[in-house]
Amino acid sequence: MEKRESFKSSFGLFAAAVGSAVGLGNIWRFPYITGMNGGAAFILVYLICVAIIGLPVLLSEFIIGREGKSNPIDSFKNLMPKGKWYISGILGVMAAFLILSFYSVIAGWTLEYMIKAIGNQFAGKDVNQIDAMFGDFISNPIRPIFWQFIILSLTCYIVASGVEKGIEKYSSLLVPALIVIIIILDIRALTLPGASEGLSFLFKPDFSKVNGKVILDALGHSFFSLSLGAGTMITYGSYIKNNERLGSSALNIAIADTLIAILAGIAIFPVVFAFGIEPDNGPGLVFITLPNVFPKIPGGYIFGILFFLLLALAALTSTISMLEVVVAFGVDRFKASRERVAIISTILIFIVGIFASLSQGVLGHISFLGTDFLDFLDKLTANYFMTAGSLITILFVGWKLDRKITDRQLTNEGMLDIGYVDTFYFVAKYISPIAIILVFLASVGII
Ligand code: PHE
Repeated sequence: MEKRESFKSSFGLFAAAVGSAVGLGNIWRFPYITGMNGGAAFILVYLICVAIIGLPVLLSEFIIGREGKSNPIDSFKNLMPKGKWYISGILGVMAAFLILSFYSVIAGWTLEYMIKAIGNQFAGKDVNQIDAMFGDFISNPIRPIFWQFIILSLTCYIVASGVEKGIEKYSSLLVPALIVIIIILDIRALTLPGASEGLSFLFKPDFSKVNGKVILDALGHSFFSLSLGAGTMITYGSYIKNNERLGSSALNIAIADTLIAILAGIAIFPVVFAFGIEPDNGPGLVFITLPNVFPKIPGGYIFGILFFLLLALAALTSTISMLEVVVAFGVDRFKASRERVAIISTILIFIVGIFASLSQGVLGHISFLGTDFLDFLDKLTANYFMTAGSLITILFVGWKLDRKITDRQLTNEGMLDIGYVDTFYFVAKYISPIAIILVFLASVGII
C-alpha cells in the first residue's frame, strides 16, 4: 500500500488545522452573532461550549483519523468494520461538499469587496447607497459567480498539489499572514477615540441577555468554527504523525481559533461603536456596516483593504480543508489521482454553488423550506449534518471504540504521561453527548 501523506512539521499541522478552523466563521459570523446576542455574555457561553463540547469532539476526530488512517468514511470502517458508525463519515463528506458550495459564494464576495476597497468605492456614499451596493452585487447573476470560480480554482490548485506541498505549505504561509493582518487591524481599532465602548460591549457580560437561543447559537457556532462534524478534522487527523501530541494540538487549535475570533471582534466593535452604530445588523455587519465607517476613520482606506484581504485569506484556508475531505474520499474510493479527483469534485461543487449564488438574485423566489437555497444549505449542514456527525463521533469514542486504542492515541503508545484521560472519557461519554442532544432537539424545535 502507498504510504499515506502526512503533515511534515508540528507547525504545519497547527497551521493547517487552524487554517481550517479560522474562516468566515471567525471574522464574519462570530462578530455578527456576538452583536446580535448581546456581546460578552454570548462570548462566555461560547467559551464554555468550546471547552466542554468542541474540544472533546475535535480530539475525538483526531483520534479516529490518526487511528483509522483514511478518509472519514473508511476511517470509521477501519476502526469498526461491523455496525453503521461510518454513517458519521458519510454525513461528514456530504457536509464538506455542501458547505463548500455555499461558503465559496460568500468567500467570493470578500474578493469583490477587496477590489471595491482598493478602488475606494465606499467613499462618499451614504448608508442607503452602501446597502444598495451590496444588494446589487449579490443579486448580480455573473459577478459573484466569477469570484466564486476564482476561490474554487485556487482551492483546487492547492489541494491538487498535495497534503505537504499544497495544504501544509500554503497554510503555513497564510495563517501567520492572517495573524499579522488582524493585529494591525486591532491596533488601528483600539486607537480610535471611543474604542472603549466597543471593548466593553465585547468584555462586560450582561447575563440578562443569556437565554435558550443564545446557548443554541453558541453551540452551533462552536461546531462550525472548529470545523467539526464535517470530516475535516478526521481527514487532517489521518495526516498527523505518530509523534505529535493529539491532546495539546487540539487544545492549541481550539485556543487559537477562539482567540482569533475575539481579535476579529476587537477589530470590528470599536470601529462600529466609535460611530454610534448599533452592532446588531446581522450578516450585513461586515459587508454593509463596516464599509460605511471605513471612509470615516483615519487610515480607513488601508484598513478596508486589509480587512477584506483578511477575510479572503481566512476563507481560503478553510475552503481547502473542505475540498480535502471530498478529495481524500474520492482518491481512496476511486483509486484515481489526486489532481483528477480534485478537479472533478471542484466542478461538481461549483455547479451546486452556482445555484447558491443565484439564490441571492434571479432564483431568489425559489424557496427551500421557507428560505433561499444558500441559507437552506447553511441551515441543513450546520443544524443537522454537523450536529449529527459530531454526536455520532463523540458517542463512538466515548462508548464504542476500545478504550485501549484511545489511550494509545492520547499517550502516543504510552510515551506521554498525561493526566486528563479520565476527564476526557467522562466528558466524551456523558457531558458532550447530552449537551449536543439537547441542542439538537432545541434546534429542530422539539424542546
Ligand atoms: N471553521 C470554518 C470557519 O470558521 C468553517 C468550516 C466548516 C471549515 C466546516 C471546514 C469544515 O469559517
